[in-house]
Amino acid sequence: MSHFFAPERYDTPEFTIRACQPGDGKLLHDALTTSADHLRPFLYWLTFDATLEEHEQLVRTYYSKYLAKTDFIHGVFAPDGTRLLGWTGFLLRGRTVEHGTGEIGMWISATEAGKGLGTRVLKQMLHWGFTAWPWQRIEWKCDTLNLASAAVARKAGMRLEGTFRQDHPMPDGTRCDTHYFAMLREEYRPDEE
Ligand SMILES: CC(C)(COP(=O)(O)OP(=O)(O)OC[C@H]1O[C@@H](n2cnc3c(N)ncnc32)[C@H](O)[C@@H]1OP(=O)(O)O)[C@@H](O)C(=O)NCCC(=O)NCCS
Repeated sequence: MSHFFAPERYDTPEFTIRACQPGDGKLLHDALTTSADHLRPFLYWLTFDATLEEHEQLVRTYYSKYLAKTDFIHGVFAPDGTRLLGWTGFLLRGRTVEHGTGEIGMWISATEAGKGLGTRVLKQMLHWGFTAWPWQRIEWKCDTLNLASAAVARKAGMRLEGTFRQDHPMPDGTRCDTHYFAMLREEYRPDEE
């Protein structure tokens, strides 16, 4: 049995990354509602049409998974906690923490996207992941058509390991190709953050 206690909060002067918790449903609801057009092309499965109550239920489910160590979902909050700037997390994809591989997922709200925030959040997630979490390997996967996502991974210093063809079914019946990026613990350079 693992004795690892997952860290729940990481503060920077620009934003706070913390486990999403009961009470965060309204901020999630507002961000998804106002960012739907921006997020839908590549994250079509997000809960854009869910009610406020359903989003509150969702963040509670996320937090129960956090405590159970089956997935670690974080909000990216303004330092005063009043705004949700984006969403990130270490995803296990069915593996355990002891497996040592975490996959970072992310979205940045429409009002904050395109200003370098995604790159800065990813760099901080890599720093946090290799200093406070037991990851040996951190992954980032994106549709090859998602140029902003691939650019963020490259700018954060992750290596493109390969491209999986027709990797994922899309709602229109086509299949997307997926870039697999990763960084290993021994590749991480704190002075490059
Ligand atoms: C992908 C995402 C997380 C990137 O975050 P961001 O804050 O918008 O990205 P940044 O501002 O840090 O931009 C990073 C780079 O991408 C480039 N970029 C942004 N949009 C682009 C586009 N449409 N085409 C090509 N490059 C683009 C930027 O020019 C920037 O590179 P530069 O600094 O060299 O100019 C964000 O746009 C987002 O939430 N998108 C929708 C959801 C999503 O796709 N999530 C990722 C799933 S894998």
